[in-house]
Amino acid sequence: MVKKTASKLLRPRLAPIITTLNKSPNASPMSYIGIVASKPEIIALGADSKSDTYKNICLNKEFIVNIISIKDIKKYWKTRIKYPYGTNELKIAGFKWRKGVKVKVPYITSSIASIECKSIKKLKIADRTVIFGKVIHVRVSNSYSLNKVALHHNKGKFFKVVPYIDFKISEKYFRKGIGK
Ligand SMILES: Cc1cc2nc3c(=O)[nH]c(=O)nc-3n(C[C@H](O)[C@H](O)[C@H](O)COP(=O)(O)O)c2cc1C
Repeated sequence: MVKKTASKLLRPRLAPIITTLNKSPNASPMSYIGIVASKPEIIALGADSKSDTYKNICLNKEFIVNIISIKDIKKYWKTRIKYPYGTNELKIAGFKWRKGVKVKVPYITSSIASIECKSIKKLKIADRTVIFGKVIHVRVSNSYSLNKVALHHNKGKFFKVVPYIDFKISEKYFRKGIGK
């Protein structure tokens, strides 16, 4: 019998790549993420306190949420691997990057959108530390239409517009172990 859990019901979840910076850029998929306030917009991110993402956010209080296109799925999966601290994970995965507009952290140039955040608070809870990030800049790729997303979402076709959150696709790639 399938175990009843809230996380099985509260999905699909977004699984963007979070970029952070030490000396080199770090990149990790993270799905414990969502908007929790609107004025100003605040993002909550549940990160493992042993992750390099968490360490880097503690270091310089900045992170970027990169919304990844399905075209980059192979590169995406490479970023889930645990590399030694300080490894340039964007380079290893094959992504190109550019310095953020309002932060020093880089964003992935092929991403659909990138949300630049300043961490304002942390809360250790259960097996994660929740980082609250204030949104300070939003960049959306020219080839992407926010109106189109809203329209498709209303018609229940959101997954076709942002296919990276389609769990069937993600799990298929996960099983194949792409990125190992
Ligand atoms: C789809 C997906 C979602 C993930 N979501 C989270 C998450 O929300 N929080 C977390 O701590 N780890 C999450 N992980 C695991 C991290 O990506 C993984 O532990 C990664 O190696 C951490 O890298 P880092 O040490 O460079 O930050 C997720 C992994 C995948 C594949």
